[in-house]
Amino acid sequence: MSRTALPLHPTVSGAPSPGELARAGSDAGSPMTDGFGRTIRYLRISVTDKCNLRCVYCMPEEGLPWLRRDELLSYEEIAEIVRTMAPMGLERVRLTGGEPLVRRDLHRLVEMIDRVPGIRDISLSTNAVLLADHAESLREAGVDRVNISLDSLREDRVDAIARRPGSFSKIMAGLDAAERVGFAPLKLNVVLMAGQNDDEVEDFAAITRERPWHVRFIEVMPTGANLGVSAEATLSCDEALARIRRIGELEPAEGPTGNGPARYYRFPGAPGSIGVITPMSHNFCDRCNRMRLTADGQLRPCLFGDLQTDLRTPLRAGESIVPFIRHTLRVKPERHWLEQGSDAGSGGLQALSQTGG
Ligand code: 5AD
Ligand code: SF4
Repeated sequence: MSRTALPLHPTVSGAPSPGELARAGSDAGSPMTDGFGRTIRYLRISVTDKCNLRCVYCMPEEGLPWLRRDELLSYEEIAEIVRTMAPMGLERVRLTGGEPLVRRDLHRLVEMIDRVPGIRDISLSTNAVLLADHAESLREAGVDRVNISLDSLREDRVDAIARRPGSFSKIMAGLDAAERVGFAPLKLNVVLMAGQNDDEVEDFAAITRERPWHVRFIEVMPTGANLGVSAEATLSCDEALARIRRIGELEPAEGPTGNGPARYYRFPGAPGSIGVITPMSHNFCDRCNRMRLTADGQLRPCLFGDLQTDLRTPLRAGESIVPFIRHTLRVKPERHWLEQGSDAGSGGLQALSQTGG
């Protein structure tokens, strides 16, 4: 990916214009289409910035400066944002973190979101360490499906990458629970790292011949906290696909769930599929259908860059947040400007855990 010039952004995306404020009422029911014609139907909601793991490509071992309790949106506040966006065309919600399951009683939030008319899909991104304990209550509350992060199939490696001994067995129990309660389709996210797990690409791919799982390889994205890893360990998904093709022919496949960043392939006749998410080697921003809500109530039009709009302040002041949502759409950038070995394009982001991945 070549970079021309870094776009200049203010640190925050600023405030709604007088026009946006005046149109709050009429804007409340019209679709969320941005300046590049992309319509937003999907919101990723980070419910906490904390995590019970310390994956080497994500967080420093000592963790990050966590948000205070009063900075976090309450479940009622999060549900209110979803209730506001649903008439504007929001259809799908993903709960993420940090690790979403470290926030207490997550199923209560799921129940609240599940009751919002128009929301037809609720998913969860988790490291699965705590999933065995919560799978059933989450399923009952309305979670349709889960994405599970799993960077290796080998116990010693998982524990080392996550920097938490004992993780592997809990994650395996979480995977079993996910299957048992019927989360489907089940996606596994594998962050590719040269020298750490790239020799397992074929083993991960082989799983899709046996099970209806969707294994997705993700290129490491550089952030402030992971430059050591991301600069050295970068491996492109094209390289991973080339290795997989040596063990079997691949054909292009439909994605398990609509318009996402992944491109999918499968071994002919296999129940599962192989996806690649290529933020570094092939930009997919033109298909972007999402925005992100951070745990402290910042609406982010893009994973990277420093644009965000504070929804928490107007929400707590009892004002309409519609103009703030409109404003965020208006400034949604055309694409991100990540480049290998630098976090310049990440807008000062330390880790994806701060914005919900
Ligand atoms: N680059 C690529 N993927 C990352 N994830 C977290 N940080 C990074 C990064 N810097 C992955 C997690 C999870 C998904 C939400 O994002 O492993 O699977
Ligand atoms: Fe936690 Fe996910 Fe970051 Fe790993 S990648 S430390 S599981 S937030």
